[in-house]
Amino acid sequence: MIDTLGDFKRDYFCGELSENNIGDEVRLLGWAASVRDHGGVIFINLRDREGVVQVVIDPSKSPKEAYEKAKKVRTEYVIGVRGRVQRRPAGTENPKISTGTIEVAVEELLILNTCDVLPFPIEDKINASEEVRLRYRYLDIRRNPMFKNLLIRHEVYQAAREYLAGHGFLEVETPMLTKSTPEGARDFLVPSRLEKGKFYALPQSPQLFKQILMVAGIERYFQITKCFRDEDLRKDRQPEFTQIDYEMSFVNEEDVMAISEGLIHHIFKKVLGIELKLPFRRMTYKEAMEKYGTDKPDVRYGLELKDITDIAKTTEFKVFRDTAEKGGLVKGLTIKGGASFSRKEIDDLTEYAKKFGAKGMAWIKLTEEGMQSPIAKFFTEEEKKQIVEKMEGEKGDLLVFIADEYETTHRVLGFLRKHVADKLNIIPEGRWDFLWIVDFPLLEWDEEEGRYVALHHPFTSPKEEDIPKLDKALEDREIATSIKARAYDLVLNGEEIGGGSIRIHTSQLQEKVFKVLGISEEEAHEKFGFLIQALKYGAPPHGGLAFGLDRVVALMTGSESIREVIAFPKTQKGNCPLTNAPDFVSEEQLEELGIEIEIPEKEEA
Ligand code: AMO
Ligand code: AMP
Repeated sequence: MIDTLGDFKRDYFCGELSENNIGDEVRLLGWAASVRDHGGVIFINLRDREGVVQVVIDPSKSPKEAYEKAKKVRTEYVIGVRGRVQRRPAGTENPKISTGTIEVAVEELLILNTCDVLPFPIEDKINASEEVRLRYRYLDIRRNPMFKNLLIRHEVYQAAREYLAGHGFLEVETPMLTKSTPEGARDFLVPSRLEKGKFYALPQSPQLFKQILMVAGIERYFQITKCFRDEDLRKDRQPEFTQIDYEMSFVNEEDVMAISEGLIHHIFKKVLGIELKLPFRRMTYKEAMEKYGTDKPDVRYGLELKDITDIAKTTEFKVFRDTAEKGGLVKGLTIKGGASFSRKEIDDLTEYAKKFGAKGMAWIKLTEEGMQSPIAKFFTEEEKKQIVEKMEGEKGDLLVFIADEYETTHRVLGFLRKHVADKLNIIPEGRWDFLWIVDFPLLEWDEEEGRYVALHHPFTSPKEEDIPKLDKALEDREIATSIKARAYDLVLNGEEIGGGSIRIHTSQLQEKVFKVLGISEEEAHEKFGFLIQALKYGAPPHGGLAFGLDRVVALMTGSESIREVIAFPKTQKGNCPLTNAPDFVSEEQLEELGIEIEIPEKEEA
């Protein structure tokens, strides 16, 4: 019952046909999106990559053989038809499809394959779980929205290549089986069979190789490449993801940022037809943290953080006063119209704040009758007035406050700000608010590890004027954290889409920075000896950036998660429901690698 394709070739994609083809004989190939039998006349909506066209098998006009076959066709059967394009009879047009005024009267029909009962319909909107969608990803991608996302992704690759190649960047591949690279996540390891007990690491990024390519005199490198990071997954994080990665020699921050802006401008123009305004806005890390509580602020809306630490210092409210006296901060948000929030809504906000480390959340409603708040009694009339003034509060607003250390106060309010904006639905649609974050600190104190860690990565150069401070960094936390990095991140609508820096290009400075980071000489030598050595052989000044391609495409397509723009993504738990990876391997395989597995008992069951 299955026909062979033989030398049957398509003349057109279904979606390419138009009234211009009326009278033409055409051959089409695709899937039966729907099959309807209207009193003997069979209508099939034939779908391929480019669209849908209706084909008609009328027993009074089509050959008997074609009709008999058409009766067997079910949804998602793979078929080929030969027939003549005709105008649809008046009143039967379908304005929902681009080929809605025509149809193909079938002369010959091939059934090339059948299809089992579908787990979900091939339609734009479905309510299948993500697990099921990923298990049957080949069906999911037959759906128009998924296909469109992959198409846009494809166009982004092409536009990126066109721009970068056009600006003298050479595409060079770097290894996937390599040594640990330092982007701060956990590595994925691959055991070596030839040298038992040794492991390759999958690259967290091509960082070290692209720097070495600069030492190699490539001058301008780029690559669209996979990166691997074993970290907690979220909607904008996958264990393997794609970067548009590049590096340039003899440049400063301005050069890299200009190329990056040009690249994004070109991609948006080419793919979406949108002309972005350049240059993008810039904001210092400090301003971003203090105004928005995050280093990737969404500046499409206001709701900025306000500081009342000065007023808090003298109040009778112990939580505020103690925090302020101990050098902490008391900051808040003014939620327009929030005075109408119920007690439960305020409790929910408090719980939300606590999730991010707040000890509590103080609040004040500004009502017709004045302040309504469990803490109002602690404030004098003058203090109340000052607070309202500082918060720019008006009747009907809700003021919420967090009192804590610098970092916690900002982090909590940063998350609260976003949460409240979502709740109030004040984030405008259809805007592309690009923002460079600059003047990052070079170092961050890591309480757990008891040492400084690089905010970007350990190869990022300090600002020229801050280099002398490195000598005092280990003795003085204040000096250490005041050292600025030559780093820059690009943020779009509150998401970090890319980041980069000017690198350290002398081995002396690199070794000094390793020392401040508590990386011993042996450790540095063992882990990055090859880079330090390369820097000694005439490394040019260099810098670069990497965009998270999945995030860029997710934003461009308005997708909820980057999983929507990746052909075969992993679930939140890091599984692939299609292939069932990760999976156990055979005893023989393990033996070859010299690996013995010990599974904790409770997981075995
Ligand atoms: P960074 O670590 O900032 O820099 O990564 C660059 C960009 O990659 C994206 N990204 C991710 N996307 C999806 N899933 C993930 N798990 C994930 N992690 C990061 C982000 C981020 O901005 N080597 C440096 C670049 C450089 O300095 O040139 C680097 O990898 O959008
Ligand atoms: P308490 O005195 O603990 O009953 O707290 C009084 C109010 O202050 C409650 O609404 C708490 O949620 C709030 N609160 C407690 N700790 C903090 C804090 N660190 N920052 C802001 N508000 C707090």
